[in-house]
Amino acid sequence: MLIQKASWIRMKDAASTIVPVFRRKFETPKQVKTAVLEVTCDGVYEAVLNGKRVGDFILAPGWTEYCKRLQVQSYEITGLLLDSNTLEITVGNGWFRRTNAPWTGTKNPDEFLPAMLIAVIHIVYVDGSEELIPTDEKWQVSESTITLSGIFIGEDVDMTKKPVFQSAEICDYSKQILIPQEGPEVHEQEYIYPRKSFRTPKNEWVVDFGQNMTGYMTFEMDAHAGERLSFSTAEVLDKDGNFYTANYRSARSQLHYICREGHQSYKPKLTFFGFRYLRIDEAPEGFCAENIRAVVLHSEMTRTGWLNSSDTMLNQLFSNILWTQKSNYLDIPTDCPQRDERYGWTGDGQIFCRAGTYQYDVRQFFRKWLADMRAAQHDNGWVPEVIPSLTAYKPGGAGWSDAVAIIPWQLYETYGDVSFISDMYEAMKKWIAYVPTVTKTPDLFTGCWTYGDWLALDHPEGYVPPTIELSKRGYSNDDLVCSAFYANSVNIVIRAGKILGQDVSEYEKLYSRIKKAYTKAFGDRLNTQTEKVLTLHFDLAENPQALADALAEQIKACGTKLQTGLVGTPYLLHELSRYGHSYIAWSLLLRKEYPGWLYSVSKGATTVWEHWDGIKPDGTFWDDDMNSYNHYAYASVADWVYGVACGIKPAAPGFAKVRIEPHPDKRLNSLCAVLDTVHGRIRSSWKYTDDGIRYEIETPVETEVIIDGVSKTVGKGKYVFG
Ligand code: BGC
Repeated sequence: MLIQKASWIRMKDAASTIVPVFRRKFETPKQVKTAVLEVTCDGVYEAVLNGKRVGDFILAPGWTEYCKRLQVQSYEITGLLLDSNTLEITVGNGWFRRTNAPWTGTKNPDEFLPAMLIAVIHIVYVDGSEELIPTDEKWQVSESTITLSGIFIGEDVDMTKKPVFQSAEICDYSKQILIPQEGPEVHEQEYIYPRKSFRTPKNEWVVDFGQNMTGYMTFEMDAHAGERLSFSTAEVLDKDGNFYTANYRSARSQLHYICREGHQSYKPKLTFFGFRYLRIDEAPEGFCAENIRAVVLHSEMTRTGWLNSSDTMLNQLFSNILWTQKSNYLDIPTDCPQRDERYGWTGDGQIFCRAGTYQYDVRQFFRKWLADMRAAQHDNGWVPEVIPSLTAYKPGGAGWSDAVAIIPWQLYETYGDVSFISDMYEAMKKWIAYVPTVTKTPDLFTGCWTYGDWLALDHPEGYVPPTIELSKRGYSNDDLVCSAFYANSVNIVIRAGKILGQDVSEYEKLYSRIKKAYTKAFGDRLNTQTEKVLTLHFDLAENPQALADALAEQIKACGTKLQTGLVGTPYLLHELSRYGHSYIAWSLLLRKEYPGWLYSVSKGATTVWEHWDGIKPDGTFWDDDMNSYNHYAYASVADWVYGVACGIKPAAPGFAKVRIEPHPDKRLNSLCAVLDTVHGRIRSSWKYTDDGIRYEIETPVETEVIIDGVSKTVGKGKYVFG
């Protein structure tokens, strides 16, 4: 990369909170054949050449394991060039310069690194000559019109502020971390018009976009210089209809804009928000809420999956699942897009990954994130709980760190691309080799930190949690949860190793020891729903049918309610269906009361919530401290709808061969799933008719179709059964 020839530059003596704009004027006296800008920074930037934005990448350079990897973008800028040119690049704090970031070495924002830029313009003239314009002290820099910027803060803008340029200063910062862009770019994807604007009981002026989302607002207006426009963001209104922001915790999540004179429009350049509602906190005289749009942002990915049913509430759930994925696949897979986290939680990432691969082509998206996971993995094998990592955070533990094995294996299954497992094989092995160094019991994973079955609902009555942290966890045995995930990761290493032609005999011996130890330790102590589900899902049960029957009975006995948390829920319906209890699986999916997937839909949700009862039946909230309305762990149920309800599963990696075994249920009239695989389109639908069920199936490859337990093998084509 030519950027290696450039120097890092900064604004002399500028505090880390200053949002500078770097400027370089240059002439192109001869006819230009091609011109390319390579650029990156220690924050997020927007580049503008001759008044036009360079590229469509919002929030470039994205978020990576910055200590080791910082992406460089390469833009073709030939079409933007004039004879005399001005390139301006504004650098905000972004993900790089924020609290808890190891690369800043401090938690105090005042001590963060200042904004720094590195870039080079490479011009090739028609006559064959070349010119390089690297960042150096010939560049100038000024404070920009953005007076405050941060991922959680939002943006403060003063359009009356005039730049005062000075020479930029060369500074010393690593160029070894620079890598070419790997992930898909984040782009503006959709524009949403306000559904309505209204006054709340507290007389707040609120705009409703009708959809919870990730992105920012844009507006157009006439104003006088110095007039102010300010927005706050919210996902939901409280039970009285007032604006609710407490669940954003310390994330300010606001835009403050000081107008210039005349007609103007604006959108934030260096931040994003998770929101459905905007509160207009102040506005110029005559400002019209109808002139605001919401701009939806997410990583560029091709849609591959569609679900549709005869039930409007279920269709709303499908829509909510899709929007939750869009909202949280913003450069990295995040837990939520609104509060002061927005982290790449490994547990959430793996929990939703299978559903995510049904709905979008996520190959490039995960390839980058997995590279960050490898970069963040500690030498002793532990995988941080959030990727990119943060100092204040610890090993993820079972279910979280196991993302290192589960995600690449899932990507291999969905896309048939062996490189996902070959790239991650050493990292998976390192993680499972870490376990024996910390466990308290040989061949199991015990006595170690874990989030357990996070957010499970199965505290027995009168249970007093030992700490506040534990109150958010279920009652499943932590050692069992850890050991079950350990077994699964070892099993993945065995399967991956075989595909890669590795000797896995030691892992096979380890796996059978784990199974034996697991049965001995937990075989007769499978109490909670999650304990049963994990034992079934990871094939650790001695008598799986009896265990699944017991699980079904247990669910019925408590009023057909799930009690599973983050680790149990994604597998629950799968295991019920696998052992003949699809009726109960459907009951759980169609349940409209708490806890159930349609409960939030009945409360008007447009994305999936972190808690089943984020808004309780009486309209009050789950605690403010952890209450996201855009969290995809429970959205993982989509993979049961595609893979079991409509029955589409790969019979060979990448769907090179397919197995379709639908599991219809009379409580729904019809259901249809469409899936674009690397081998072509699969479609599976069923519909109840007067005299039975009509199945329609389309497949691009050899497929085993199983209907009512009867198997038929069909080739590429469209088929109707029943
Ligand atoms: C996140 C979760 C995450 C968890 C760890 C939360 O704050 O939002 O989804 O997995 O912490 O248990």
